[in-house]
Amino acid sequence: MKLLVINGPNLNMLGLREPGVYGNDTMESINKEILSKAKEKGIEVNFFQSNIEGEIINKIHSAMGVYDGIIINPGAYTHYSIAIRDAIASVNVPAVEVHLSNIHKREQFRHTSVTAPVCTGQITGFGKKGYIMALEAFCDE
Ligand code: DQA
Repeated sequence: MKLLVINGPNLNMLGLREPGVYGNDTMESINKEILSKAKEKGIEVNFFQSNIEGEIINKIHSAMGVYDGIIINPGAYTHYSIAIRDAIASVNVPAVEVHLSNIHKREQFRHTSVTAPVCTGQITGFGKKGYIMALEAFCDE
């Protein structure tokens, strides 16, 4: 089992960025926790973060035939990137969408996810634990 974790725009700012919404952990420390859970489960995991839509799309394309699953937090692209949605739909790799905050509890413009309909499922509002839940979702498959 080989998984790819993709974090989109502004998630590199975790720890500094709106801690009341996103918590105090940095992306690096969250990734370390994902890595240790993955090791425990005997899963290989790689990480990618970009603030650039096209780089995220290229990364999704490159996952085809290489990864068994994608865990993706597309950040704000969730709400409007048809291009990222199409990239997920283009590759034959199941994806689970993760959000630290509960997007449905926040501003109206965050209630829509254009990417969730092409994912296996969406985990939203459980903070960093959402990434672990997504990893576990793949293990139970
Ligand atoms: C987010 C929610 C998005 O609305 C926001 O733009 C983010 C982070 C989350 O993890 O809660 O950048 O994806």
